[in-house]
Amino acid sequence: MEGQRREKPPIQPGTFKRLLGVILAHYKVHMIVVVICIIISALASTVATVFMQRLIDEVITPGISLGLSAVWQQLVSILGTMAIFYCFGVIASFTYNRIMATITQGTLKNLRNGMFNRMEALPIGYFDTHAHGDIMSNYTNDTDAIRQMIGQSLPMLIQSGLSVISMFIMMLYYSIWLTVTVWIFIGIMLTITKKFAGASAKYMMEQQKSLARVEGFIEEMMEGQKVVKVFCHEEESKEDLRKLNEQLFSDGERAHQAGNVLMPILHNVGNLMYVLLAIVGGILVLIGAPNLGFSGGGTITAGIIISFLGMSRQLSQTIGQMSMQVSMVAMALAGAARVFALMDEEPEADEGYVTLVRAKWNDKGELEETDNQHGIWAWKHPHKADGTITYTELKGDVVFEHVDFGYVPGKEVLHDISLYAKPGQKIAFVGATGAGKTTITNLINRFYDIPDGKIRYDGINITKIKKPDLRRSLGIVLQDVNLFTGTVMENIRYGRLDATDEECIVAAKLANAHSFITRLPEGYNTMLTGNGASLSQGQRQLISIARAAVADPPVMILDEATSSIDTRTEALVQEGMDNLMLGRTVFVIAHRLSTIRNSKAIMVLDHGRIIERGDHEELLAAKGTYYQLYTGAFELE
Ligand SMILES: Nc1ncnc2c1ncn2[C@@H]1O[C@H](COP(=O)(O)OP(=O)(O)O)[C@@H](O)[C@H]1O
Ligand SMILES: [Mg+2]
Repeated sequence: MEGQRREKPPIQPGTFKRLLGVILAHYKVHMIVVVICIIISALASTVATVFMQRLIDEVITPGISLGLSAVWQQLVSILGTMAIFYCFGVIASFTYNRIMATITQGTLKNLRNGMFNRMEALPIGYFDTHAHGDIMSNYTNDTDAIRQMIGQSLPMLIQSGLSVISMFIMMLYYSIWLTVTVWIFIGIMLTITKKFAGASAKYMMEQQKSLARVEGFIEEMMEGQKVVKVFCHEEESKEDLRKLNEQLFSDGERAHQAGNVLMPILHNVGNLMYVLLAIVGGILVLIGAPNLGFSGGGTITAGIIISFLGMSRQLSQTIGQMSMQVSMVAMALAGAARVFALMDEEPEADEGYVTLVRAKWNDKGELEETDNQHGIWAWKHPHKADGTITYTELKGDVVFEHVDFGYVPGKEVLHDISLYAKPGQKIAFVGATGAGKTTITNLINRFYDIPDGKIRYDGINITKIKKPDLRRSLGIVLQDVNLFTGTVMENIRYGRLDATDEECIVAAKLANAHSFITRLPEGYNTMLTGNGASLSQGQRQLISIARAAVADPPVMILDEATSSIDTRTEALVQEGMDNLMLGRTVFVIAHRLSTIRNSKAIMVLDHGRIIERGDHEELLAAKGTYYQLYTGAFELE
């Protein structure tokens, strides 16, 4: 129920570099401006403390002895300069925070686009093995963690790092001994941070995973709401959620406990440092100790001590802030690693080079390419050896030669399948559930590739045909119907985007969907949502058949396309399809044998093997499995 656990890609050092690469790819100039602004802002706040020292030593301590106007002048000059520095700091910080919003949101946009583009290129097999909730959380939780890191942690870390460095230099400038005292405390703080932030980061990642589980579960329960009610599983699902939610709570609790106590602890250590510095500094001033900083000789003054105290306070706060970011960064990097893992998935390979083009017969009786929209379709086959191009008319001739196939290695589903379908023929597959009927159709459109054997399409090995061109030539009505959010008309037009309304309506009539559609509240303009939840299963199937029909393909595959439709409508649909498919190839899979009686050939499948083949009369005469199925002596499972 909980879905497949995502395997956790370890945080590699390369992840940060790569994320930075993604940011810089689009926002290099932005980033440079941001870093400059951060430097200005960090320097401004540090430099201001220097003026504090001057204010005390040059104005306040000498006091009125300087004379009133001199004091006034000094005061204005020092405070004025301080104000200017602070202003610069404020403007810089305002600017970079604004730019950061662009960088952050833009980078997220690029990541989402990147993930989705790759996702659309992935083979069907990827979705067989990855839980949808997990893929979804790449777009939600992981992206959000990255947002926090880029938008908050990153600028804060840069700014804090710069502040720490500049404060360190300033401290050395004033007094080596006081600096050493401060750094002993900083060492203690870092040790504490490492312990707590490490634990917090670990639980944060656990929390991320628990969150994905809770979300996946809720998603599944929403989709399966009816089944839940039918089996009266409301209490059980509440209980299941309660457990998952409890886990999320305890992971979150531990993550934040570790994270939340860190600040107060660091704060107290910082206070301790403050007091000690004040005492040591006070003694140094009283005994007139020499100033051992780079600022030169002289004794330590009260101004120096006060500046120092200010800096030490700022330093301990900065380190506290940085420590809070550690677990955020760890979480974001874990998220980024998962995002990149999706982006690095091997896309569906397409080594095909034969393409589908519009063509016409020329005077010499040869096919040549044409722009004419009404030309016939042809396979354009470039030959690497001599550089020539040949054209083959698209007819819909499909041949399987000794095809073996399994979804997972070592578990073969189809064994030695050989069959042919000439253009215009209707080929039917019958057989028990799980016999491999759908699998055969999955191979024709190359959802999966075959290890052994060959499938030829109009004489061309389908591995040589470009996948989009191959699929464009096939009309497929899948066993599971998927309708998209949009009007009925838009859903039908999905089959061929340049189809006119009239063409869509013709297709709907062929599929026998027209009459029910016109009875919908807004006819063809009725909005469908939630996979067409407002329609009956059979109506949804009819729309999906119309969608395939509008594409007007030379080969049509109907995989139990009429299983939820009443017999009378089914007969009408089959008739419509038979008309549409005149001169084309159709593969039908149907449970009701009556609808496939008129097939050119019927293949009876059993456990992935064709055990009987022939037309209806031949198979009946043979008195084998088909005969038993047809006469009802055997039920399809
Ligand atoms: N995506 C998949 N991954 C692994 N095994 C699959 C997958 N789809 C189908 N199978 C297996 O392949 C066999 C044939 O399935 P299928 O072709 O769908 O049967 P049906 O004749 O009912 O259409 C079944 O045993 C099924 O379990
Ligand atoms: Mg099937």
